[in-house]
Amino acid sequence: MTPVPRTIRVDAASRTYDVVVGSDILDGLGTRLPSACEADAAFVVTDSNVSPLYLRRTIDALEAGGLRTSSLTIPAGESHKRLDTFGSILEAMAEASLTRDSVVVALGGGVVGDMAGFAAATYMRGIKVVQVPTTLLAMVDSSVGGKTAIDLDAGKNLVGAFLQPSLVIADVETLRSLDPTVFADGLGEVIKHAVLADRDLFDSLSRTPLTKDTDAKTLIDVVARNVAIKRDVVNADEREQGIRQTLNLGHTIGHAIEAAAGFELGHGHCVAAGLCCVTRATEALGWTTKGTAKAVERLVAQQGLPTDSNIPHDQLVSFATHDKKRHGDSVNLVVVHDIGRCDVRRVTLSDFARIVELGCGVNA
Ligand code: GLY
Repeated sequence: MTPVPRTIRVDAASRTYDVVVGSDILDGLGTRLPSACEADAAFVVTDSNVSPLYLRRTIDALEAGGLRTSSLTIPAGESHKRLDTFGSILEAMAEASLTRDSVVVALGGGVVGDMAGFAAATYMRGIKVVQVPTTLLAMVDSSVGGKTAIDLDAGKNLVGAFLQPSLVIADVETLRSLDPTVFADGLGEVIKHAVLADRDLFDSLSRTPLTKDTDAKTLIDVVARNVAIKRDVVNADEREQGIRQTLNLGHTIGHAIEAAAGFELGHGHCVAAGLCCVTRATEALGWTTKGTAKAVERLVAQQGLPTDSNIPHDQLVSFATHDKKRHGDSVNLVVVHDIGRCDVRRVTLSDFARIVELGCGVNA
């Protein structure tokens, strides 16, 4: 029996919208979209991996809902999340005669969601976007909360905008077609959310690891719990002035690993390693309950993700100090006190170097 979809309502300062998480709900997109946002035309942006799998079904679903639909397939991969691809999306939108009454549909993983979202945020000074995430990472993180961006030579996500979607449709059946490494990448963000705010989820994942073949009911439950955690944070702080910074748990060191590794390692893999590194260090400093780092490492390893990095410390510190999350000569570090309990602490760059020293390369 197909499990009942779950709906999580996000009530951000700039927009209220639903995130629907279900099994085999992609074909219902054209039915759900009109009640979420008025539009006469849809423009689907997808990538070369997702297009052969789900583009036709998505177009059919939108047309069945009465929307004139056109599409663009961009090359897959983070290396294409750049100004030139962004420009080609905007040109294609203009060629398709999109107006302010049109909606962009982002069909794919985090790269597609970020770029299509940013194109929607800027085309004609902003039109609506609907997110249809097809990776675990996009379902539990990037499709929710309104961050959109592209990369520059100088760094990842350096240009972007906040644009909350009008609707998010997460069909967990699309996870079945993922390469296991891509699925595991999303688990990095799932573990991050569990460590931040959900000890039950942490314990249940520790007992039963999640895979792309997990039953639909459990996948829906896990994705919905993650969306609810993110929703609570985004509702309180849409623009990352305060509590939203906690969503960067594991990211200061994780982004540094990602950049130092030339973006060869997936974002969620780097976040998982960053989470283990920072937790080992803060436990050694007495800021974290004893035993937490081991428990986090165990779960991260069990889910097939790295628990450490052998990148030289000076490189990690240098990349972290060039991150956009730096504030003058300090960085805001998310500190785990215990599973489910974290907060943000401002540390100087020299304290941060000490944290890297204590936490990174220990088990690598
Ligand atoms: N991925 C972190 C955030 O959306 O704030």
